[in-house]
Amino acid sequence: MKSIQTLSVSSGKGGVGKTTLVTNLAHCLTQQGGRVLILDGDLGMANVDIMFGHRAQLSIADLISGRTDLHNIILEVSPGISLIPGGSGVYGLHNLDQTAKVALMEQVSGLDNQFDFMLIDTAPGISDNVLYLNAAAQETLVVVTPDPASLTDAYALIKVLHKRHFENRFSVVCNLVRDEIEALSIFRRLSDVAAQFLCVGLDYKGHIPMDPNLRRATKLQQLICRDQTGSPSSEAISELARKLSDFKGIPEIKGGIQFFWRQMAGVA
Ligand SMILES: Nc1ncnc2c1ncn2[C@@H]1O[C@H](COP(=O)(O)OP(=O)(O)OP(=O)(O)O)[C@@H](O)[C@H]1O
Ligand SMILES: [Mg+2]
Repeated sequence: MKSIQTLSVSSGKGGVGKTTLVTNLAHCLTQQGGRVLILDGDLGMANVDIMFGHRAQLSIADLISGRTDLHNIILEVSPGISLIPGGSGVYGLHNLDQTAKVALMEQVSGLDNQFDFMLIDTAPGISDNVLYLNAAAQETLVVVTPDPASLTDAYALIKVLHKRHFENRFSVVCNLVRDEIEALSIFRRLSDVAAQFLCVGLDYKGHIPMDPNLRRATKLQQLICRDQTGSPSSEAISELARKLSDFKGIPEIKGGIQFFWRQMAGVA
């Protein structure tokens, strides 16, 4: 495995499948030998822990208040998968005093050797906090669905990340689609407007079909990629994980996990 990749999973509109994707991708990446750290950066509905059958007691808020350090917050939720329960605390990192920031960076420096991927589950929308989280990650994967609102909101997210944070590459996954034809038509609509009005490149990473098994699995707090490997959505997510493993990003420009935490804490 190469050095850690930081990937934020984001969307303009809520409920499009981000948490589903993050948790299942994490599982698939471990099946390929990767060690995965998930940062739950959802503000309101932080629920990655629940999907793994855990209930986090500590979060980044405890780190910020000085009650504990990063090491104690990280929770192993499954073999090869660890979680940092973030919640709104993630956005308080910037306000740490200098000594606390230095201490945090020391703790973060150990993470590079422990993990191959950091997946960041975000809240939907274009609030400053979410933008910041996306801008700090090496790669942003935008999830869209056939719902027209999801497409316009995804465009708004891409636009503001481009204008304010100078992001110019985005990966796109089409979820809840009938088939690849529908996925490609959604992708084309988004990439056409992006090319016309913004100077950004969109990479199509694949599609995940609408799969009733997946909805049922979520209700049962199961991971489709672990518990129903033959399902269409499970196969699609495994394929996506393979593509992400092959990602040859631009680590020299936007580094991995340390870069991410430095950005979040505002360490020069
Ligand atoms: N391909 C799919 N087929 C069927 N159901 C799906 C699919 N993808 C996601 N879902 C279902 O959609 C619902 C919302 O998914 P999820 O919680 O992952 O969305 P989200 O983007 O994280 O939402 P939020 O923006 O609120 O954090 C869940 O019930 C999930 O099972
Ligand atoms: Mg979610």
